[in-house]
Amino acid sequence: MNILVELRARFRQALAGLVDDPAGLLDLIRPAQDARFGDYQANVAMPLAKQLGKAPRDVAAEIVQRLEVSDLCDPPEVAGPGFINLRLRDDWLASQLSGALLDPRLGVATVDQPATFVLDYSSPNVAKPMHVGHIRSTVIGDSLSRILRFLGHRVISDNHLGDWGTQFGMIIYGYKHFRDDEAFARAPVQELSRLYKLVSQLVDYQQIRRTLPDLRARVVQREQTLAEQQSLYDSADPAEQKRLAKRLRSLQSQVSEARAEVAAAEQKLAAVEQSPLLSPLALAHPEIGTAVLQETAKLHADDPENVRLWHDFLPACRDEIQRLYTRLDIHFDYEYGESFYHQRLGDVVTQFRDRGLARVSEGAVCVFLDGFDAPMIIQKSDGAYLYATTDLATIDFRMQNFQPDAIFYVVDHRQKEHFDKLFAAARLWGYDRVDLRHISFGTVLGEDGKPYKTRAGDTVGLEGLLDEAVRRAYAVVAANDDGKPDGPELDDTQRRHIAEVVGHAAIKYADLCQNRTSDYEFSYDKMVALEGNTATYMQYSYARTQSIFAKGDVDVTALRAEAAKAWGSAPNASRSEAENPIHLDHPTERALGLQVLRLSEAIGEAVVDYRPNLLTGYLFDLAKRFSEFYQQCKVLKAESEPQRLSRLLLCDLAGRAIRLGLELLGIRTVEKM
Ligand code: ARG
Repeated sequence: MNILVELRARFRQALAGLVDDPAGLLDLIRPAQDARFGDYQANVAMPLAKQLGKAPRDVAAEIVQRLEVSDLCDPPEVAGPGFINLRLRDDWLASQLSGALLDPRLGVATVDQPATFVLDYSSPNVAKPMHVGHIRSTVIGDSLSRILRFLGHRVISDNHLGDWGTQFGMIIYGYKHFRDDEAFARAPVQELSRLYKLVSQLVDYQQIRRTLPDLRARVVQREQTLAEQQSLYDSADPAEQKRLAKRLRSLQSQVSEARAEVAAAEQKLAAVEQSPLLSPLALAHPEIGTAVLQETAKLHADDPENVRLWHDFLPACRDEIQRLYTRLDIHFDYEYGESFYHQRLGDVVTQFRDRGLARVSEGAVCVFLDGFDAPMIIQKSDGAYLYATTDLATIDFRMQNFQPDAIFYVVDHRQKEHFDKLFAAARLWGYDRVDLRHISFGTVLGEDGKPYKTRAGDTVGLEGLLDEAVRRAYAVVAANDDGKPDGPELDDTQRRHIAEVVGHAAIKYADLCQNRTSDYEFSYDKMVALEGNTATYMQYSYARTQSIFAKGDVDVTALRAEAAKAWGSAPNASRSEAENPIHLDHPTERALGLQVLRLSEAIGEAVVDYRPNLLTGYLFDLAKRFSEFYQQCKVLKAESEPQRLSRLLLCDLAGRAIRLGLELLGIRTVEKM
């Protein structure tokens, strides 16, 4: 049961006699911040009193009088200006916990009205090295798909691979002019990736050479404006100066920005010109930018040679990506990718034009959208289609094939404008009832606060990242095992297996525990720490529950079944607290039991705005509650047999809640650590 939802339903009834529309007030019923005031707190009386023109405490008293919660709460208390404090009954908590003993869902119900979700996540551009940003999309998308499925929704996951974009023009050009056959035979993806980098560097070079004069002119122009403004400022009176200061500062930063751009451009040019390898290539391929576009255009126009090369390259590129998915336990229902839609793009443009939704402007086919400065281009003047055109075709396909209620795109925040326009265009097109949503996320930063990169300046490859996390996890696991009071208990094979699970989990969790819309700083040390809000700590807590059973030689499955049977066979009416196998006598037992029961609430909160970090936050609290309980309550050496049983059952429930929560994040557990 979702306790919060249940309490809100009870309040809705109580409030129904007092206000016409209680729904708006129900958000004011929340878990209590401070356990001394109970488990939940309702702050509805204050705003309601204003509405009714009565004293808040009187209104609170009236609500309490109407409220029917005696089956689950102690008598509610009115405190301060009119807070209503609710404390769940211990026997009710205990009976809920006993009721969950045999329930693999631990009391989490499925939704009444399942919906169909298409989830578009991961979606890397193949043949370009994948980088750390792709982890965020992959991991957040995977977790959301697990959570929504668990809640009973129909989820269709589709990896919208970038397998048709301009990077193929680069690779094809590179392959035709610069390939190393031996290297390609040995490690095709590595060679393609080298070619990609080489060609994009040469394309950049030519592009920068062309734009550098403009960039320099801009510096001069901005410096001039600044100088003018500065002299205006210098001769102004203090009041006027105050007014001008802001503009002056903004001009100053514009000048530094323009200078920095020139410096960066010059650096890139120098890097090519001073390289004995690159400079002759740059000289020999002055038109490489146009040539690359032509290679892409030829591929898209079914040129036999380019299509053959594309078919040659693709399997190896996909295998490479698949290796990562296998390591990370990521699965998709579909991986159509951009190439799947290319035959449909012409039809999209025709439909938009025929229905007057798009028109030609400066040679390009444009969709003009309210509220945007620039139109969305769906076909360039040279006939080429764009990322946006493919995305429109994809929406159309998904709507026809899956009839979804929602399509979610788990993509970084820099694509906000693309999706805003895409959704607006799709609505124009008639897809105005589906919930199109950009599940946006922030950038992964290095310790210098800039986008995470290795020292060589390459964005970190994912494989290397996972290897490093596993290496560090191994060190943590080994140190922990070596430090055990009775000596180490794991052999090297076990340690390696655990390190693998822990390392991958650390990477995923580090991402999921962040507020997804913020940037976050990547740190190996923090992510594998045994203490704190890390997967390692959760996995460790779970393993600890299992080690209790191992140490006490407890067959927990049998124990659970027996307890549930005894409890379940007692007829409802005659059930008394004494018959309940679970007792919440110690405050840490109660706190742990309550936290276990709040899993449902945490999952519910996580899908309000699709934020897995609300689930990681829950798990962190759960692990803390477990650790407090374990410090203060003897389990195997409990004072009586019933107490031992009750505590073992609590450990079992806590362990299962941790495991289930982690599963919903795509994270595995180990029995020993
Ligand atoms: N391939 C794109 C990239 O790496 C992301 C695609 C996201 N999905 C989509 N339907 N546009 O930036």
